[in-house]
Amino acid sequence: MSVSILQTLSAHLGAAFAAIGLPADYGRVTPSDKTAPFQCNGALAAAKLAKQAPRDIAAQVIAHLKDNTDIAAADIAGPGFINLEPSADLLAKRVRALAGDERVGARVSEVLEKIVIDFGGPNVAKPMHVGHLRSSVIGDSLQRLLRFRGHDVVSDIHLGDWGLQMGHLITELAEEQPDLPYFDAGFADGYPAHSPVTIDDLARLYPVASAKAKDDPARMARSREATSELQAGRAGYRALLDHFIQVSIAALKKDFSALGVHFDLWKGEAAVDPLIPDMIEQFKKDGHTEESDGALIIRVAEDSDKKDLPPLILISRAGAALYATTDLATIKDRRDSLHPDTILYVVDFGQSSHFEQVYRAAGKTGLFPRDKLEHIKFGTVNGKDGKRFRTRAGGVMRLSDLLAQAREAATKRLDEAGLAQDMDAEERAEIARKIGLAAIKFADLQNVRTTNYIFDLERFTAFEGKTGPYLLYAAVRIKSLLRKAEAAGVEPGTIIPAHKSEQRLVLALDSFNRALAASEDKRMPHILCEHVYTLAQAFSKFYADCPVLAAGVPDNVKSSRLALAALTLKQLEIGLDLLGIETPERM
Ligand code: ARG
Repeated sequence: MSVSILQTLSAHLGAAFAAIGLPADYGRVTPSDKTAPFQCNGALAAAKLAKQAPRDIAAQVIAHLKDNTDIAAADIAGPGFINLEPSADLLAKRVRALAGDERVGARVSEVLEKIVIDFGGPNVAKPMHVGHLRSSVIGDSLQRLLRFRGHDVVSDIHLGDWGLQMGHLITELAEEQPDLPYFDAGFADGYPAHSPVTIDDLARLYPVASAKAKDDPARMARSREATSELQAGRAGYRALLDHFIQVSIAALKKDFSALGVHFDLWKGEAAVDPLIPDMIEQFKKDGHTEESDGALIIRVAEDSDKKDLPPLILISRAGAALYATTDLATIKDRRDSLHPDTILYVVDFGQSSHFEQVYRAAGKTGLFPRDKLEHIKFGTVNGKDGKRFRTRAGGVMRLSDLLAQAREAATKRLDEAGLAQDMDAEERAEIARKIGLAAIKFADLQNVRTTNYIFDLERFTAFEGKTGPYLLYAAVRIKSLLRKAEAAGVEPGTIIPAHKSEQRLVLALDSFNRALAASEDKRMPHILCEHVYTLAQAFSKFYADCPVLAAGVPDNVKSSRLALAALTLKQLEIGLDLLGIETPERM
């Protein structure tokens, strides 16, 4: 596997530093967006050790690079930077290696891990909100990226299926259909296999119950009571819970598959309930717990804390296991059944304290190493009014409605741009679906995930600018070029990067692995977004400057450019796929 241009240059610079008696580390080369594509700042860093002026060191290093055929130019700039221009020969070697590589330059990670990634996290019966959408889009991109980097990844949706909302559902259903056997404490004959409710029933029952409970303490008390009885194992309620979960999972699977997001595991909070008693027993035995105000807690505050971190509540005063309790039991479950090295949680910023408590408790009790539990935080999605995004009707979002809106906006854009006009309705709809999804996903992923952003379908679906549709269009343009070439009998051949724009495109292609590694390192998909966008732009420039199939272009140049285009497409499609974005064949 050939190494990147950056690594090749680093090796040469390192050797040059060594040749003048300085550590080779100073030869580290970095990409640059100034006059030359690369630079080395080692001469400045070495000045103290060498007791020489940086510019003098740089001059000596450069003297050692004179006859190097990989370097076209090495110049001193400013106080002692070395600007580097790779030679056409090095560019050619590298791009040919990339063209022969299945993974177009992407390597696997140096340290391979077993990673559990917890994302999505919708709640049974409660509608999904944009926080769940962001978690799904970011989490899916990370699971794809980490797998591509060679890790053994298991994704888990971690359904919210164990809280008060279950008590609400049970009690509301009991009011509607009191004769169901689930409510008869003496019933012993085995409960029906068929669910007494549909997903629409659940969507209807929950808001009714929660609204009633808000105004009526007695109604709230009934929901709480039912929740406790459920947690204590009342058989009829457990049977109902199983129905609620199954019905919800079936509906969610449809939603998530429309989003193109896949989970390996569909576990939830309820699944780990049986592990809680032993876990708590152990915590008690090891002296990690305390009674406080009738609740059982674990203290997690540390001396160095700048903000007060309240203790984690294992068992509430009312005797209930809480969100943190099921999260700890879930860590135990994952540890014992999956043996992960690292667990990632893709959840919004708002839950930072919760995860800090859970992670500290896990570390303190020896459940799991604190530093191998990572909260992958993200910001909120706002409407144009600056407030948290809601749907047109003002309510919480339904994923299916959101995707329908995106499809509609994409269709409008296709019409405006005069695209996909000669296709049948079915193909057009499929293209609009892909554009809509690309718009939503890319608009989310391209932000540094910790920042907030404004939801604006109009902007997301534009074919110009840093958008998903722009990238799809770039890919489709290359596909169309490849089809034309095939029809004209032009075959891809050896790549000769001669034109400046060809060379810039090669440099963009060369940086793929760097972008992937940095994305993995920081768990930040926007770095990969940046790469695919830069690649698409470099291709655009190349395509404008370097005709491929035009009359008068020599055959070997046609074949070279065609191969370069095909290579770009391959990397672009892999990059987009890692962002969870599918490319249409044409538009
Ligand atoms: N269901 C939770 C919510 O809606 C998100 C779950 C996140 N994952 C976790 N292990 N706590 O807020």
